[in-house]
Amino acid sequence: MNTKTTVITEAQLGSQFAYCDKIAAYWHERETTPTAYVETYGCQQNEADSEKLRGYLTQSGYAIVQSAEGADVVIMNTCAIREHAEQRVFGNLGALTHTKRRHPRQKIFLCGCMAGETKVSDRIKRSYPYVDGCFSTHHLWQFPEILWNVLSRGKRQFYVADEAGSIAEGIPQVRDNTLKAWVSIMYGCNNFCTYCIVPYVRGRERSRKKEDILTECRALVENGTREITLLGQNVNSYGKDLEEGIDFADLLAEIAQIPGDFLIRFMTSHPRDASEKLFDTMAKYPKIAKQLHLPFQSGSSRVLKAMNRHYDRETYLKKVNYAKSVMPDLVLTSDVIVGFPGETEEEFEETISLIQEVHYDSLFTFIFSPRTGTPAATMDDPTPKEEKSRRFDKLCAVQNAISEQIHEGYVGKTLRCLVDGTDKEFLTARTEGGRLVRFQGDESLIGSYQMLTITGSTTWSLAGEMQNAECKMQN
Ligand code: SAH
Ligand code: SF4
Ligand code: F3S
Repeated sequence: MNTKTTVITEAQLGSQFAYCDKIAAYWHERETTPTAYVETYGCQQNEADSEKLRGYLTQSGYAIVQSAEGADVVIMNTCAIREHAEQRVFGNLGALTHTKRRHPRQKIFLCGCMAGETKVSDRIKRSYPYVDGCFSTHHLWQFPEILWNVLSRGKRQFYVADEAGSIAEGIPQVRDNTLKAWVSIMYGCNNFCTYCIVPYVRGRERSRKKEDILTECRALVENGTREITLLGQNVNSYGKDLEEGIDFADLLAEIAQIPGDFLIRFMTSHPRDASEKLFDTMAKYPKIAKQLHLPFQSGSSRVLKAMNRHYDRETYLKKVNYAKSVMPDLVLTSDVIVGFPGETEEEFEETISLIQEVHYDSLFTFIFSPRTGTPAATMDDPTPKEEKSRRFDKLCAVQNAISEQIHEGYVGKTLRCLVDGTDKEFLTARTEGGRLVRFQGDESLIGSYQMLTITGSTTWSLAGEMQNAECKMQN
């Protein structure tokens, strides 16, 4: 595997913009406004990548549409994290044969994390002849070139070479949401947790320069963004590869000093590198949401070691307790895997007891899914599927009871929330900790912060009532 990051130069990006112009001219000659649909699977990093794909497409003259039916370009931006995620993509890809038959000039592309797996790109080559192109995340910056080659030569394009990864500044973005923005601060991952495919498909850890991130955040705030979520597979190792001598806590502090009424969130924080300095920085700045997603994966130190997580149960608990001590209102969420190869009943019970001890607001729970090429895929795994399902159900039941209890504790409190949308006859809003609140009000309130008094709760959400006028953040 190549280990050197490629920094895409302005000239290289300029050549991609020249392809955008050629594509726009191609459609102009045909007196057609072409349409494009981007379907996104997986995590926020893919959401952020899709915003770039839409940026390129818009610059090439495409109108973005909300369905594959009749679209001139369809892009499936895929996720490889679990078997089930891949099966869904193959199923939906199969269905595109019909949309393409009804609209023969449709061009279909598969990109994202699955495109980084040789077994997937080979299968596309062999068995999905109607897919016109396949490109891994490393090649996203070359999408205009890929699209142009398909349009002008009518030949299938495969840009899937195994690379350490690239950093490209200046790709246009069409953001889904003006209120909330994703900002990638780094790409890739060096951790090689034994179950995880991400380092293989997204390449080595590489940080964007601080000034590029700050410039992007300033522009967002000036344009009315109220929440910025900083993205990386392991944000706590931000800066390790830069010469600037900066770490993630320093970066957070700088973003928190940008003038304006907005909140900063981030994900994902790896417990190994989460430091007291980080928690102190979060506590210090009102603009940093008191919300932490700190995946623990397992409550058993033996399993954590087999997962190559580089922390044990005690260290994890120590860090969480410190974070809670400096941020008493901290909303804490996590990821957990049930049924890692060789996990015993006792080790599973350690996971349950950790959940009970920490009292997470909510959890993302997964059953272990073997990923080809990762060490855990070939580990001895004697636990039957039914047993893993039983453990999974038990874990969910324990967590649901905790979430319900925590949510009940909100009733009667009045909280500052960002009104962010509608859900049937209700408006939706988010607390600083990211909890969902439904309440009645006028749609003109979307985009404002409101004081909401919590009147009811369920396992998943809160019900609220509006207090008086819009409120400003106390600095
Ligand atoms: N970088 C993040 C996680 C990204 S993947 C971190 O280290 O915390 C999101 C979650 O998917 C992981 O936290 C893990 O819980 C789950 N996951 C990853 N690979 C998996 C696999 N092979 N089987 C089941 N769950 C998995
Ligand atoms: Fe995967 Fe581990 Fe990297 Fe997270 S830190 S992306 S779980 S290898
Ligand atoms: Fe999936 Fe890739 Fe994200 S594998 S979870 S889309 S980094």
